[in-house]
Amino acid sequence: MAYFDLKMILDGFVETYLEEQRMISQLKEHAREIRYDFLRKKAEKIVEEDLIHAKFLEEKIKESGGSLPAAPAVMIRGGFLRDKLAWDLRDKQILEARYIELANRIIDEQEELGKALRKIAKEEKEHESLLMEILMKINP
Ligand SMILES: [Fe+2]
Repeated sequence: MAYFDLKMILDGFVETYLEEQRMISQLKEHAREIRYDFLRKKAEKIVEEDLIHAKFLEEKIKESGGSLPAAPAVMIRGGFLRDKLAWDLRDKQILEARYIELANRIIDEQEELGKALRKIAKEEKEHESLLMEILMKINP
């Protein structure tokens, strides 16, 4: 079936894996700047769950015979924490869209995998809510 292209799927996994890694590095960095413990813990929870997402993708890439890309360079951004977190939020939205797109491409051929990707997309959505909450409560 033309729509289900294994190479395309594998490329999608690798690209998403890189984005997760980027997300993890930048959010780890930004979380350290959050002064309130209860808010910093929320950011750290996001990082923990993203590590699980990255691990999941890593397994799928290996199962498909692909190789893992080197960790991406992390962009260090200066400026206010609120701007950095707003950037994280935007990247999260892109990541969520990516998982939904991957799930839609796969679901008819590999239902279980498609459902797993939709579950991750849902978690990304929850992360967006957490980031919005952090953004509203911090003082820049
Ligand atoms: Fe994630």
